[in-house]
Amino acid sequence: MTQRILVTGGTGTLGRDLVERLVATDAVVRVLSRRGEPAAGADAPTWAGSVEWARGDLSTGEGIAGAVGGDVDVVVHCATTQGKKDVDATRTLIEALSTWPDTHLIYISIVGVDRVPFFYYNAKLEAERLIETSGLPFTILRATQFHALLHTLFSAQRWSPVVCVPSRTEFQPIDTSDVAARLVELTAAPAAGRVADIGGPEVRSVSDLARSYLAATGRRRAVLPVRIPGGTGAGYRSGGHNTPENTYGTVTFEDFLAAHTP
Ligand SMILES: NC(=O)c1ccc[n+]([C@@H]2O[C@H](COP(=O)([O-])OP(=O)(O)OC[C@H]3O[C@@H](n4cnc5c(N)ncnc54)[C@H](OP(=O)(O)O)[C@@H]3O)[C@@H](O)[C@H]2O)c1
Repeated sequence: MTQRILVTGGTGTLGRDLVERLVATDAVVRVLSRRGEPAAGADAPTWAGSVEWARGDLSTGEGIAGAVGGDVDVVVHCATTQGKKDVDATRTLIEALSTWPDTHLIYISIVGVDRVPFFYYNAKLEAERLIETSGLPFTILRATQFHALLHTLFSAQRWSPVVCVPSRTEFQPIDTSDVAARLVELTAAPAAGRVADIGGPEVRSVSDLARSYLAATGRRRAVLPVRIPGGTGAGYRSGGHNTPENTYGTVTFEDFLAAHTP
């Protein structure tokens, strides 16, 4: 039977890759965005014309009942406000789904949200708890940091004479295409609760990753390790955000840089 799948955050970094894969299946895909369907242009996703668009805002609740309504079998919740508001946004989504209690809710979370006391991770953990106690059939997948996030961390410092990185810290970045592939599998499976975490193919020192970025972009800069204070820094130094036993991803950071460096 053809599934109807709603993707929140379908216009985001992960969401774009996920929707691209879902439209290649026989699912009917609906994408939630605060702006609705993007105007045609260089920025519009290639799949924009192949999906249903739902305009809605998880911060205000506007349009959410309509977006989840009717014949949606699976919701993949990828939207993020990048802050504490994620908890309220998730609650809004769950409340809207209470009218459709058989809908399978899939949530993308982050490895180590219960080990690294970073404010954003605290919110993700709280959102996980809301989903677990919602009464809805659910699946929660935790992934490590996306390559794109580390790329942003480094490229944001491109005008600086040095690239600052957290000291004595390793990352296991994963490509959003790999995370999207796993999410597609989960949409086709019954609700499974919390499933095994996934991480990228390599655990590497962040200084090493920064040097790869500099080499790929032809920049000569020193990499400066900076100690992050408090529990958050300690959590990262202890590798709480990595999952070396679950190297699911196949795309390395160098592969990502090769594909994304002009
Ligand atoms: N970045 C990482 O390294 C990483 C690692 C593991 C897991 N994750 C998780 O993966 C998910 C996706 O992350 P990402 O980096 O792809 O996100 P992103 O690029 O920042 O995209 C955010 C998305 O959320 C939507 N959104 C924001 N506020 C909204 C609102 N009020 N109502 C409805 N939609 C809203 C945006 O859609 P519009 O602007 O079109 O409305 C956009 O599509 C997040 O849950 C994140 O925690 C991220």
